[in-house]
Amino acid sequence: MADTVRLTIDGQEVTVPAGSTLLQAAQAAGREVPTLCYHEALTPPGLCRLCVVEVDGARTLQAACVTEARDGAVVHTRSPRVERARRTTLAMLASATNLDEAPQLQAYLQDYAADPAAFGPVARREYPLIDDNPMYVRDYSQCVLCWRCVQACATDAQYVFALTFAGRGFHTRISTAYGVSMPESPCVFCGQCVAVCPTGALKPRRTFLLEQGYTPEQLAHYAAVDHDAVHPPATHYAGQV
Ligand code: FES
Repeated sequence: MADTVRLTIDGQEVTVPAGSTLLQAAQAAGREVPTLCYHEALTPPGLCRLCVVEVDGARTLQAACVTEARDGAVVHTRSPRVERARRTTLAMLASATNLDEAPQLQAYLQDYAADPAAFGPVARREYPLIDDNPMYVRDYSQCVLCWRCVQACATDAQYVFALTFAGRGFHTRISTAYGVSMPESPCVFCGQCVAVCPTGALKPRRTFLLEQGYTPEQLAHYAAVDHDAVHPPATHYAGQV
């Protein structure tokens, strides 16, 4: 088998190592392909379909992050069909999720002129903030279900399996098994889920409290006394879910 494959991306010939994905080939050609569930440190789950590209001869659009680059392939990263698909995906995401703290997704929404109300009135997945441990808070109203945190918690990094999917369909959400609080779960508070979250769904508790108006001095004082002594305002606090 040849060590490299040669293909055409948006009219430009590019040679990449055999086994590369279409996303890697597009990047080698200097093309930007939007991604969401993909993270270079994690196994691509191929879930969000934001990275779809058009490949000549293929019946359906291909997810660039999980599709292998083939010799002689002719790929279009921004054809009208690709743009339409990405616009639809982004519009549906924005209609169901609070993306206020996801600047990259906001930029994509603008770039693709995606309208959250394109399919009717917006229906948001609303969940109360979960503040059940000293390390981080969870706001699943901002969760895009990309699976990154679940992977980091499982076989891609920490191997503790504290996180999983719960619910079905529109009400699917990330949860601990049986919905127990984080301290009751196998979580070891490594912070890797927070590091790979592409939105504000997972956030260091300290960052969150600073955003709520607490000063570093107040937080240092509370930490010295009791880390449970300070909580977000009650209206925004759900303890555990
Ligand atoms: Fe490729 Fe999500 S980034 S499917």
